[in-house]
Amino acid sequence: MAAPTGKPSAGTSISVRGLGLSFDGQAVLSEIDLEVPAGTTLALLGPSGCGKSTLLKLLAGLQKPGAGSIRFGTELVADARTCVAPERRGLGMVFQDYALWPHMTVDGNVGFPLEMAGVARPERERRVAAALARVGLEHVGKRRISALSGGQQQRVALARAIVAEPRILLFDEPLSNLDRDLRVSLCREIGDLLAQLGTTAVYVTHDREEAQTLAHQVVTLKQGRVVHASHRSGSQYNETF
Ligand SMILES: Nc1ncnc2c1ncn2[C@@H]1O[C@H](COP(=O)(O)OP(=O)(O)OP(=O)(O)O)[C@@H](O)[C@H]1O
Ligand SMILES: [Mg+2]
Repeated sequence: MAAPTGKPSAGTSISVRGLGLSFDGQAVLSEIDLEVPAGTTLALLGPSGCGKSTLLKLLAGLQKPGAGSIRFGTELVADARTCVAPERRGLGMVFQDYALWPHMTVDGNVGFPLEMAGVARPERERRVAAALARVGLEHVGKRRISALSGGQQQRVALARAIVAEPRILLFDEPLSNLDRDLRVSLCREIGDLLAQLGTTAVYVTHDREEAQTLAHQVVTLKQGRVVHASHRSGSQYNETF
């Protein structure tokens, strides 16, 4: 992971071409083409088992494609022969179950990616405080994760995802463990945060309303294929596929 500079992160475009993956001869993703312009958000919708998380794992470098390619900007990060390691892709990730270390403090969790990148403690502390402020959690740094509510834990996970200024953020159903009111408000906050940061994002959800609140384009998968795509134009979504 590149050492953070302290400057706001600039997103990079994502280009997916003919992406495919099979497990035990069974196609899980087929002929996926996606274009995510720099600084925009693409939401992935679709029924359980349609391949949403698998597609995120391919973007993250946690899976290798069987066919096709993934480019971040002009950089080829994955094809049948190439697979850039996840920590070299400049990504932040937020999962449904938060994936925080419960025994560690909030500061410890959020600062972990910087520690891994070898950032010295004073700079780390400054950056952790800035990331926590961005998600509205200025005063909880010394608390243990287990002493926070679900919504607060997801904000911590968000702060950890942005602290190293990733060029791309990946979200896998980050709000589905939260109650409806919190989901609606946190979804808006994530949208505002992405706009402020200018980070490119791919956001998996089951919820069309959530997708349309956040995303510039919404792509629906079914049985591993793109079956529908729409782009936002003003307050409307226009079908593109
Ligand atoms: N490592 C694996 N080995 C074999 N099959 C897998 C593996 N990972 C995923 N699959 C299969 O791939 C398909 C897509 O799974 P995936 O987790 O991407 O779905 P999803 O759209 O994220 O579903 P959900 O909405 O329930 O999270 C499923 O049929 C799943 O069983
Ligand atoms: Mg999933």
